[in-house]
Amino acid sequence: MSKKVDLNAYGQLADDISHVIISPDELHQRITEIGAAITQDYANRNPIFIGVLKGVVFFMADLLRTLPFHVEVDFMAVASYDPSARQRGVVRLEKDLNIPIENRHVIFVEDMIDTGLTLNYLLRSLRARQPATLEICALFNKPRRRLIDIPIKYKGFDLPNRFVVGYGLDYREKYRHLPFIGQLKADVLPSDD
Ligand code: IMP
Ligand code: MG
Repeated sequence: MSKKVDLNAYGQLADDISHVIISPDELHQRITEIGAAITQDYANRNPIFIGVLKGVVFFMADLLRTLPFHVEVDFMAVASYDPSARQRGVVRLEKDLNIPIENRHVIFVEDMIDTGLTLNYLLRSLRARQPATLEICALFNKPRRRLIDIPIKYKGFDLPNRFVVGYGLDYREKYRHLPFIGQLKADVLPSDD
């Protein structure tokens, strides 16, 4: 894979990045392929794309702009309860959908599926609203961390079990706007990460 990214172009952000794992070109190419697969399956079905704020907005924006047919998009926002609820994936909806999804074709878009606990909880809530179909599209996947089996219909990249940032993924709310996936330098992360 080509990693031709000039980190010097990213100013103070670059100081915290040890190396680039996925370049902007590689992201763009894979997202174009995912868009083509979705187009094959969904053209003329007017699907609704649903994402959870905030990490997914970068992927959602780039993915939808590859699609040559009518779609709708909506977002949810969640907040975690206390740590024990979090370990079970239980979250509180801070912002629900604006568009009803009953009898609609829904594509749930995720930036990263890690343990899968949060996603599993949200999928149950969405299924209860009886969409016609519900499929999952995830740009990044950490299969070794998965605790719950989740069928991913459209998948971008499998990642090793390392903490990465960029293209929507944050560390303490920062680095989301990097246009590549990068590894943080060890001294930026707490030692238990
Ligand atoms: P889970 O699947 O419920 O464990 O939650 C996945 C969420 O964990 C993602 O949406 C990210 O917010 C976060 N996450 C997991 N791995 C990373 C990473 O390497 N960098 C940044 N965020 C991550
Ligand atoms: Mg997230």
